[in-house]
Amino acid sequence: MCAVRLEYSFCGLRKPRNGAHNIGIRERFMLSDATIKESNITDIKRGFNSLKNGSTNSKAIATYYDEWAETYDATLKNWDYQAPYEAAATLCEYLKSGDNILDVGCGTGMFAMAMSRHLDCRIEGIDVSAASLEIADKKGKYDCLQRYDLQATPLPITENAFAAVACVGVMTYIEDAADLLADLCRVTRPGGYILFTQRDDRWVEKNFDSLISSFEERKLWVPLKVSSAKPYLPKNDDFSDRIQVIQVLCQVI
Ligand SMILES: C[S@@+](CC[C@H](N)C(=O)[O-])C[C@H]1O[C@@H](n2cnc3c(N)ncnc32)[C@H](O)[C@@H]1O
Repeated sequence: MCAVRLEYSFCGLRKPRNGAHNIGIRERFMLSDATIKESNITDIKRGFNSLKNGSTNSKAIATYYDEWAETYDATLKNWDYQAPYEAAATLCEYLKSGDNILDVGCGTGMFAMAMSRHLDCRIEGIDVSAASLEIADKKGKYDCLQRYDLQATPLPITENAFAAVACVGVMTYIEDAADLLADLCRVTRPGGYILFTQRDDRWVEKNFDSLISSFEERKLWVPLKVSSAKPYLPKNDDFSDRIQVIQVLCQVI
């Protein structure tokens, strides 16, 4: 069995914001037998017959997004994907320049690009897709990028480290969203913010209403905003106006 241990990060290296100091992320992976189990390649292909079905197999997700990385931004633009821009527009009302943000499932870096139009924040990204991280790195908006499987909690991040955490377009791929969100509360400092999105179909399926209330009861966060559902990928034929997205903003206690 082959497995990929996602040890790569360049958080220790302060990079110029123009991205000139691009490091070959893919070349620096370390292999071990932890974190992500090998999955059958056929399963990877089948698992992603359509984006609509999603998958919570981290290895399959990494392969899928690695293959898509080069064309991801252009495709998402064609589908009129607005979630990262809307996340940045919401968060910038609560943050100030200089605040640090963790972009969870940062992909190719659309959220950091969007955020940089509003505020000059220090943004770190974490994602399972090496090729996506390479593209994010080239955009020069991240102070630190790390390859890691979000389903292997706790994340390799110290507690109370961030003023805000954004997790946009990712929850579909996480089997135990409550587990990840609890860990995001851990890494967000008290009074800081967690913004995440979830598809409306998965919202119902995984009972996110109850998840949000249970975190409130556990005194992990106070929900500040739960948006109405709006088209997620309006110009994608599978999604159209059938699958919508909900944005949530909570303040960590
Ligand atoms: C729809 S894309 C969203 C990317 C970015 N946040 C955006 O809005 O453009 C989903 C991202 O989640 C990442 N992802 C999914 N499951 C993951 C996991 N288990 N660990 C780390 N990243 C994961 C994928 O690699 C991909 O980059």
